[in-house]
Amino acid sequence: MTGLIAALDTVDPQKALGWARAVAPSCGMLKLGLEFFLANGAEGVRLIDQRPVFLDLKLHDIPNTVAGGVRAILPLRPAFLTLHAGGGRAMIAAARAAAEAAGAARPKLLAVTVLTSLDAEALHETGVAGGARQQVLRLGRLALAAGADGLVCSAHEISTLRAALGPEALLVVPGIRPAGADIGDQARTMTPGEAARAGADWLVVGRPITGSADPGAAAAAIAAELG
Ligand code: C5P
Repeated sequence: MTGLIAALDTVDPQKALGWARAVAPSCGMLKLGLEFFLANGAEGVRLIDQRPVFLDLKLHDIPNTVAGGVRAILPLRPAFLTLHAGGGRAMIAAARAAAEAAGAARPKLLAVTVLTSLDAEALHETGVAGGARQQVLRLGRLALAAGADGLVCSAHEISTLRAALGPEALLVVPGIRPAGADIGDQARTMTPGEAARAGADWLVVGRPITGSADPGAAAAAIAAELG
């Protein structure tokens, strides 16, 4: 069963709150990202009265600093928290150890492998020789082994990652566009139904919901496609 996450990408807390309440009946989770968090901080997260919340902060620093960041965020009780797999085994393990302090209610850690905004040339410029697919697999395996609960991945990577990582790995998938929707700046998209059938645990959808005249109805239509 695939769940729907609405990405509330705005710096305006009242707008985010309005979207959160409108989509709540259809979404199993709400995602607050970097722009919302940098503009509104912990206070802004507390203002969103719908739960659960996914904090997409993509942490990436030395292990001690990331662990401190995770501890600082625990009082907000996020269900999911992101970090960059490129931070390495010790960083991911430190994040997991810090998260364990919250016990059973700890946030699930999702690792970002290769940013989908990096094409082959941009990735090569960063020193990665083997191409995106190989790097996604390498970092995905490393992240899970180090203590991540799952990965943020492109819909086109789901079947490869599922085969490599098994059924327990949470696969959370952005870049989703309902049939006929504006693709915007996302390069390789899938419809909600396609991504669900490919084996995604959660789909992350932003502008097709928040850019709609009726975000509640847009979210409901996508949720209906997930069965
Ligand atoms: O508006 P849209 O549906 O493209 O929003 C997708 C959301 O998922 C945004 O919040 C974006 O930051 C996030 N995301 C992404 N691609 C990734 C990782 C996260 O689009 N690889």
